[in-house]
Amino acid sequence: MKIAFEEYGTGKPFVLLHAFPLSNKMWQPQIEALRKENVRLILPDLRGFGESHSFSDINTMEDMAQDVSELMETLKIERAILGGLSMGGYVLFNFLRKFPSKAAALVLCDTHPGDDTDETRRARFDLIEDIENLGTKALIDQMLPKLICENTKLNKPDLVKKLREDFTAVNSQAAIAGLRGMAERKDNTDLLSRISLPALLIFGEEDKVTNLEMAEKMKNGIRDSKLVTIADAGHYSNQEQPDIFNRALIDFIKSVNV
Ligand code: MLT
Repeated sequence: MKIAFEEYGTGKPFVLLHAFPLSNKMWQPQIEALRKENVRLILPDLRGFGESHSFSDINTMEDMAQDVSELMETLKIERAILGGLSMGGYVLFNFLRKFPSKAAALVLCDTHPGDDTDETRRARFDLIEDIENLGTKALIDQMLPKLICENTKLNKPDLVKKLREDFTAVNSQAAIAGLRGMAERKDNTDLLSRISLPALLIFGEEDKVTNLEMAEKMKNGIRDSKLVTIADAGHYSNQEQPDIFNRALIDFIKSVNV
């Protein structure tokens, strides 16, 4: 499927994949920071989200990875630094399985290569039921409080307001299709030891969706990896602590060849 995207700057191609249930708008703090760097930033809206409208019952991580590969072909990008936060990372692991030669380096944020536990899968189907009954308000009530840390809740009212608006704008059917896609995704843990690319791992220290145990597992699994953990950040580390996130990102991009 042809997906919408935004593009900024010139230089090393860097494709960055957003989280569920957001869109490429979540990368606003990175757009500003990378503008001054030697980077061609490509920000897709994964299928169903942002401007990439889709009416499927299920949008799988494999389908989304295929879309990203096709977008790179359209843009004539043979190899890129690839990054993803949370669901963006799930898509990225599927991309690596199918199109390993298209990746030059990896930025894996608040994500992990595993599949859902039975408990997580059950919670996704409960959330689907709630969205069917209440619309995307269910996402705001049930998901958002778990995604941001206490410091953000107390001290960053503008960000909380923006996230509530972003969640409100999500299409219910696309949210359900994405939840089904995440629930049935495969375990990609076996890929970790086969990754020989340089990888930057960034995790909010108070992330409740992923955690530092998963971060350490990924760091130990990927040979050439560096882990940066960010205090006073939850799952949305790039938005909760953008300055620290951007510093790590820019240093990494400068250090890799594409
Ligand atoms: C995300 O931020 O993309 C989601 O929270 C991921 C998930 O629910 O597993």
